[in-house]
Amino acid sequence: MDIRQAFLDFFASKGHKIYESAPLVPEDATLLFTNAGMVPFKSVFTGEVPAPNPPRAASCQTCIRAGGKHNDLENVGHTARHHTFFEMLGNFSFGDYFKEDAIAYAWEFVTEVLELPVEKLWVTVHESDDEAEAIWAKYIARERILRMGDKDNFWQMGDTGPCGPCSEIFFDQGEEHFHGPEDYMGGDGDRFLEIWNLVFMQYERDKEGNLTPLPKPSIDTGMGLERVVAVKEGKLSNYDTELFMPIIREVEKMVGKPYVYADGASYRVIADHLRSTTFLLAQGVNFSNEGRGYVLRRILRRAVRHGYMLGLREPFMFKLVDTLVKIMGDHYTYLKDKQETVKQLMQLEEERFFATIAAGIELFEKELEKTKKLFSGAVAFKLYDTYGFPLDLTQDMLKDKGLEVDIAEFERLMQEQRERAKAAWKGSGDAKVEGDFKALIEAFGKNTFVGYDNLTAESKVLAVLNDGFARVKCLEPGQKGWVMLDITPFYAESGGQTGDAGALRTMEEGEMVAEVLDTKKFFDLNLSEIKAARKICENDLVEAAVDTTRHEIAKHHSATHLLHSALREILGEHVSQAGSLVEADRLRFDFSHPKALSAEEIAAVEQWVNDKIERGIAGETEEMSIEDAKAKGAMALFGEKYGDKVRVVSFGESSIELCGGTHVHNTAEIGMFLITKESGVSAGIRRIEAVCGHAAYELVKRMRGTLTTIERELKAKDPMQGIEKLKSQVKQLKQELVEAQKSKKSEIKTETIGDVTVVVDEVEGGDIKAMIDDLKNAHDRVAVMLFQKKGDKVLIAAGQKNTAVKAGAWVKQIAPVLGGGGGGRDDFAQAGGKDPSKIGEAKEKALAYLQENL
Ligand code: ALA
Repeated sequence: MDIRQAFLDFFASKGHKIYESAPLVPEDATLLFTNAGMVPFKSVFTGEVPAPNPPRAASCQTCIRAGGKHNDLENVGHTARHHTFFEMLGNFSFGDYFKEDAIAYAWEFVTEVLELPVEKLWVTVHESDDEAEAIWAKYIARERILRMGDKDNFWQMGDTGPCGPCSEIFFDQGEEHFHGPEDYMGGDGDRFLEIWNLVFMQYERDKEGNLTPLPKPSIDTGMGLERVVAVKEGKLSNYDTELFMPIIREVEKMVGKPYVYADGASYRVIADHLRSTTFLLAQGVNFSNEGRGYVLRRILRRAVRHGYMLGLREPFMFKLVDTLVKIMGDHYTYLKDKQETVKQLMQLEEERFFATIAAGIELFEKELEKTKKLFSGAVAFKLYDTYGFPLDLTQDMLKDKGLEVDIAEFERLMQEQRERAKAAWKGSGDAKVEGDFKALIEAFGKNTFVGYDNLTAESKVLAVLNDGFARVKCLEPGQKGWVMLDITPFYAESGGQTGDAGALRTMEEGEMVAEVLDTKKFFDLNLSEIKAARKICENDLVEAAVDTTRHEIAKHHSATHLLHSALREILGEHVSQAGSLVEADRLRFDFSHPKALSAEEIAAVEQWVNDKIERGIAGETEEMSIEDAKAKGAMALFGEKYGDKVRVVSFGESSIELCGGTHVHNTAEIGMFLITKESGVSAGIRRIEAVCGHAAYELVKRMRGTLTTIERELKAKDPMQGIEKLKSQVKQLKQELVEAQKSKKSEIKTETIGDVTVVVDEVEGGDIKAMIDDLKNAHDRVAVMLFQKKGDKVLIAAGQKNTAVKAGAWVKQIAPVLGGGGGGRDDFAQAGGKDPSKIGEAKEKALAYLQENL
């Protein structure tokens, strides 16, 4: 039975509109990830957005609970039912039906569609909810309705947001399988499995914790697909189902040991984490040291650590992606599109961690031996900082042993490091800073970006932050910090496009208040980094103006889109974007492709793009639904954070992409596109660097300048002719040099002592070893010692043939005269000296030695 489909069909038959799963990265900036089916509908519940028509909806929503209020990361593997990634089936009423119908629908679905036996079902209601209990009593015996407190039966999305009392349906998996002390209904054991949560949405919680009634009571329900599949398959653990077992079987093959449930936690961790990491990567989240990317990194590293415990010593997660795509790719087709890219990114990250994991684990084990109660915060910090072990990974490793990290010490070291790094702050993913940004969002909402159509705006400074991101009233002249403007024309760095720079000026006289250095997004807040020229304070009104370089950025961004199309056109459809950088004077585009591009391919890609530029194709940006964008053939469906409506940027048929960036109105504005470099980033990922617009002109100008200089230096109109001429000159000079060296050799003075030819001389150039060989070949009995200056040193070499002296002994006698030492064989020896001024003296001694010893 396809439970996913059965659920959606059931609610469609009850007048619900079926929605596609929203992205894991929610529009809602106060949430790390979509953690429940209701998240995409949050603003409908709160009344900010009017209810859709019909005011009832159903979906199968992909969720991640690995951070924030709902965090199951550390439980994964150790229980039968926790996951970082799962699919939530849900039906929603926006001020339409309430408890009565919600309970009736749930009951019908559970007993008639899923056909779960009534005698195995239990329900809970909130302790104050007489109404819900009375409704349930129509379907199920009162003894099987339990009242529970806020902890179990009050649901809220996050610290703030919609919430309400809830009612849950449980399935009794049978006492024959469970014997734990907590295995009673209402206990914490595994026997009674909660399958469905019906939330009676009645309140909105603000940041002080106050509950305000929602405009209309609503319904939000959530049923974990994995649990229902387990129940239907008669399995006691979600991990035993067809959703996970094929992955676990693959891990078994790699490890070479069969999976046994009782000590199979590591297998389960791997299977679970494979799902969350694959979905996040496929949706465009990438590994990083902050925010969501850091959570992704933590999940992957936890999986790798468990693989390591199973004996795996090289990247393995990426090899499991194919199996997961087989299980889920038909429903989530973007997994297939992104399959190769996901594998490559995952492999790279695994390689990084494998490089340090062994050393890290050794450090950990050593410290563990010494640990009695608290595990050293300094070691935990070192593991984090040097070996890439996220804190929660270290905590997780200690969990089984009942030990804890000295958090205070760890935090102190983190703080110290943060202060050191403050100047170069790029976001730390730490809770405090995140909290500050969230407080800004709560105080002011998100600020409004008007920079697609306007390069200037009259803006109010809502908040001022210092360079450590602490809220301040004002910045003094010369100080650096950040401002949040209510309306901003500055584009915040995103999707590879660099953040805008510019200026803030006074409204009347247009005098400089602050230079805008950069603009970035922090939890969806658009903040500009500034250097104050005069005092700037909260509530100031300013004129904000984007720097003219923005147009150059737009050219490079549009050129990047054309490049993407060109690569797919010329290399094939397997090309998929793996990262990009767009600046005013260059662009960089990383993409999946198995091998280096040939010179012909590079030329063809460049030509393709220039052809589109020459045709002057008009650019168009439109907002449309994801479905329409897909139908239009848009690329990169999960590159960014997309809500219901997406922004589609197209240049005729040549390029259609989802993109939040800024672009030219017509490809002709790009001017010219030149590829400057093609290189490899990692296995299967290539990189192209290119310039266009003014930067292309500058490049050509520079090249022409170089050419002119070459022509001038060569004194030739045609540089190729000049080079040929130079080449033949070099050839001739070489010849002459050889001749000169030959004649030099013949200038060497030879004497005779008895019938021995004797040479003791200083030579300037040439290879003295070769000269000695030549002399030995030319004479029957010979003794030679040559000296050659090399900078402020002297090279000494000696050789002899058929004489009574030994070259080694001779050199040993003479080298000290030059302040050096050395020696060698009887027939050849060499040495070095440090005092060239003594060569004359050395020559005399060398001759005297021969006179005595020959
Ligand atoms: N939003 C509710 C939950 O996640 C249904 O349990």
